[in-house]
Amino acid sequence: MSAAASAPTGGEVLLRAERLERRFGGLTAISDFSFELREGEILGLIGPNGAGKSTTFNLISGFIRPSSGRLVVMGRDVTGASAMTISRLGLVRTFQHNSLLSEMSVIDNILIGTYHHRSGHERRMEKVREVAGMTGLTDHLKAIAGNLPHGLQRMLSIAIALAAEPRILCLDEPLTGLQGAEVGAALDLFEALRTTHGLTILLVEHNMRAVMRACDRVIVLNYGRLLAEGSPEAVSRDEAVIEAYLGRGR
Ligand SMILES: Nc1ncnc2c1ncn2[C@@H]1O[C@H](COP(=O)(O)OP(=O)(O)OP(=O)(O)O)[C@@H](O)[C@H]1O
Ligand SMILES: [Mg+2]
Repeated sequence: MSAAASAPTGGEVLLRAERLERRFGGLTAISDFSFELREGEILGLIGPNGAGKSTTFNLISGFIRPSSGRLVVMGRDVTGASAMTISRLGLVRTFQHNSLLSEMSVIDNILIGTYHHRSGHERRMEKVREVAGMTGLTDHLKAIAGNLPHGLQRMLSIAIALAAEPRILCLDEPLTGLQGAEVGAALDLFEALRTTHGLTILLVEHNMRAVMRACDRVIVLNYGRLLAEGSPEAVSRDEAVIEAYLGRGR
């Protein structure tokens, strides 16, 4: 029997990963990994460097295929489906490392997020203005992305994802390099995305204070396997998690 991270009762299951495995040559990066993401929750995915968090994002967003296992998004079996198919179903991810077009304007970067809208330019520009407003970029629309301060570049990656109109937003270490006040503003944004815009969020983050504040539930990966699952408080007290990741005295 595999360990499966069970979701709290409540919302409909929007994403289900069943016994995912991914090998890279001789390395098994993800093994027997099952979890569910339910509508309206903010689920944290944590674990040490190299545990397989970004690989999990690559798998669920269709950037790479699982070696075995099954993925269900919005009730549809999408195992082996393309990134385009999965983003059209409403699962959109950001990248851990800078994925902006640094030489292009903020507007042009956000427009990329609207690529699969079937609407015309004016409707797409409305979306650009809307998500710029949500992410604090309204006054920077004409700036060159690479010239923005780091914090606004991180916000721009989120704006691009939001422009694709996701139902599930997967954020890969969105807080890296943010200053104190910026972290608070980003966490407020995540909560607003959930409550005001009805998004469901999967959050990979090493900032444990932020995880404790933002997440309803946390799953922990270690060497590609599910190590623990529970409330942020329960997980942060879990002996196995302390041993593998958090360390003593954190
Ligand atoms: N395309 C790839 N080819 C070969 N190995 C890979 C590839 N992608 C990831 N890996 C390996 O898979 C393992 C998991 O990497 P992953 O990037 O998913 O970790 P992570 O949990 O996101 O770590 P971090 O917290 O440092 O971002 C690592 O050993 C990594 O070297
Ligand atoms: Mg990573």
